[in-house]
Amino acid sequence: MTKTLTILGLESSCDDTAAAVVRQAEGARPEVLSSIVFGQTELHSAFGGVVPEIAARAHAEKLDICVRDALAEAGLTLKDMNAVAVTAGPGLIGGVMSGVMCAKGIAASTGLPLIGVNHLAGHALTPRLTNGIAYPYLMLLVSGGHCQYLLVRGPEDFSRLGGTIDDAPGEAFDKTARLLGLPQPGGPSVQAEAEQGDPKRFRFPRPLLDRPDCNLSFSGLKTALMRMRDQIVAEKGGLTRQDRADLCAGFQAAVVDTLAEKTRRAIRLYLAEQPGQPTVAAAGGVAANTAIRAALETVCAEAGAAFTAPPLRLCTDNAAMIAYAGLERFKAGARDGLDLTARPRWPLDQSSPALIGSGRKGAKA
Ligand code: KG4
Ligand code: ZN
Repeated sequence: MTKTLTILGLESSCDDTAAAVVRQAEGARPEVLSSIVFGQTELHSAFGGVVPEIAARAHAEKLDICVRDALAEAGLTLKDMNAVAVTAGPGLIGGVMSGVMCAKGIAASTGLPLIGVNHLAGHALTPRLTNGIAYPYLMLLVSGGHCQYLLVRGPEDFSRLGGTIDDAPGEAFDKTARLLGLPQPGGPSVQAEAEQGDPKRFRFPRPLLDRPDCNLSFSGLKTALMRMRDQIVAEKGGLTRQDRADLCAGFQAAVVDTLAEKTRRAIRLYLAEQPGQPTVAAAGGVAANTAIRAALETVCAEAGAAFTAPPLRLCTDNAAMIAYAGLERFKAGARDGLDLTARPRWPLDQSSPALIGSGRKGAKA
């Protein structure tokens, strides 16, 4: 086994085309040597959501440029790589296929081993890349298409403790932005508005808090928001800047409170399986939200748990997380052949029954 592993990673499962190089010397912390992300927000902005066909074409156009830039930024060539890792699902199938085809082309022409990576595993293992946390840990994965609490025991060993039964929180942020005429992606724009607003003026529901488990629901929030918006418009003829900020603040407070309370319960469920001082990590695009991060920090401090979340740029979609998850799989002896398939659905915990409606609506993972 080589002492130092250098892995090229590719990501194209939603609306970010990304390539990165990650290196780990034996006994040392992994390093991100380069991470290139080409976003597609402008291409989709006129449509109010990600258009799969446009996304797939843009990935196909940009992937090789991304790889070239990632290698150049790392000051390396394909000859310096030990393997090529690629997101093989879940996600928009055309995009995932673009990445898998590109990685297969690289593997076939260079002889490099090919490693298929689950995009969600990429998010879930990121705190090991950025913060060096050890197994096991409790992961809150919150993104545009997913929301789940996972007990992470190894690179391919995940148990789901609970998750959303309908929308993912990122989807709720994006819909809120759309309903209020704010730019996409909704998360950062709703957060910016919320910072100027009064979270107490509008009272949003806190769904499923009457149940003892750590399942969540976010679809009712957008209906509540739509009703409140329509009521203000009916009464005053339109929304003022302050109305919009107060709606965002009320919405965000509901998401924060719900995630905080369900995290308390998830810690209890985790401790029942893994006694001792727990480490809790958050990842995925929504973990970039500063109010959510602050609330999770407080909950963990109260529960005597260590809390960690990757830096913002590695919370949202990127290829460093794919290269790193590939590196862990590679070290564990995993190799894929040129028959690697792109999978639109690929749950991390294969044994856990699907929650009603979970992950069906979100294009993102
Ligand atoms: O992980 P990600 O980049 O893509 C996948 O879903 O896989 O997450 C994107 C999601 C979007 O829904 C976006 O609105 C949300 O993360 N997001 C945020 C913030 N930044 C990104 N949500 C809340 N607050 C933020 N600051
Ligand atoms: Zn993602």
